[in-house]
Amino acid sequence: MSSVVKFTRSEVLEMAGYVPGRQPAPGSNVIKLNTNESPFPPSPKVAIAIKKFLLDDLVLRRYPNPQSLKLRQVAAAINGCKSQQVIVGNGSDELLRVSLDTFVEKDEQVAFFSPSYSLYPVLTRIRGGQIKSLPLFRDGVIYQPDLSGVKLFFLTTPNAPLGFSFSNDYIRELARGFNGILVVDEAYADFAEDNALALVNEFDNLVVLRTLSKSYGLASLRVGLGFAAPTLIEQLDKVRDSYNLDGLAQAGAQAALEDQDYLRKSVALVIDERQHLSIALQALGFKVEPSQTNFIFVTPPRGCSAAGLQVGLEKNGILVRYFPDPQLAHGLRISIGTKAEMGQLINVIEILLKNGDRQ
Ligand SMILES: Cc1ncc(COP(=O)(O)O)c(C=O)c1O
Repeated sequence: MSSVVKFTRSEVLEMAGYVPGRQPAPGSNVIKLNTNESPFPPSPKVAIAIKKFLLDDLVLRRYPNPQSLKLRQVAAAINGCKSQQVIVGNGSDELLRVSLDTFVEKDEQVAFFSPSYSLYPVLTRIRGGQIKSLPLFRDGVIYQPDLSGVKLFFLTTPNAPLGFSFSNDYIRELARGFNGILVVDEAYADFAEDNALALVNEFDNLVVLRTLSKSYGLASLRVGLGFAAPTLIEQLDKVRDSYNLDGLAQAGAQAALEDQDYLRKSVALVIDERQHLSIALQALGFKVEPSQTNFIFVTPPRGCSAAGLQVGLEKNGILVRYFPDPQLAHGLRISIGTKAEMGQLINVIEILLKNGDRQ
């Protein structure tokens, strides 16, 4: 038996790793609409804060604040809660993992709807939990799932990759009837009409996660925020890495959060483009799922396969996301870009449809 087989945990040996969307080399001449990053740079105040940090003789030599104290205070002030209700993570991905490590024992059930964020099953396997994947719709509509025996439930709202939101009434009912921890993953909430943040004051089994990777244009900095009752945060806090956010990330994220005017403007531009793109694609015969996010999920017109269209777009330097999962293989997820990028996307799609690039 090889060392790899002998020493690797069976859960790890048997699982497939997470496959992130393609990240072309910096400087590649592509329109990147495949991983829901912001089409806009972050607030200019972020670069100023990071430069200031780098020029300080001492700070790179020393460990950063282990609790990310200032950042938590700013996140709390902006969201109208106490800093004891906030945890920050190295991306919200870290907070998903910390949630599992804090609450889920080996072989306990972890549930989520399918389709939703494809990292959940990977993290659950690593933790040694049992995956309970639930259909997103029953008879074509959303429903309250039976969560008996489930320890932790990941609810993605707005849903990725379809883009619709669950209402707070729905989330309340779910949390109320659930004898476990409900993690509400709100990665795209800044683009939505409503969000579930206030529910952390109502339920002591509910965690809300946010990220600076999408609306704040800071995917590379890796900063996620978690909100929950102080009693839950206290436990989560023990499980994260002790210096989980480096000093640059703390400084940059704080500056980004403090510039809420900039956030509002970027978000408004994305929502505007989302509307324009949806209308333009509908006019070309696409079915467009209504979206509360910075992406749309679209089904191409009859005779045009999603997989074929994705390849055609890629040949023309435009990256969009195709999911081979049978529940999603009929469509494509397209991140919202700048007005110019959306114009080019529509032109290329028109040409591909006209040329009969239909597979
Ligand atoms: C639903 C959802 N949750 C979490 C994340 C991860 O965000 P972060 O970059 O903060 O790790 C993503 C990223 O695509 C996502 O789509």
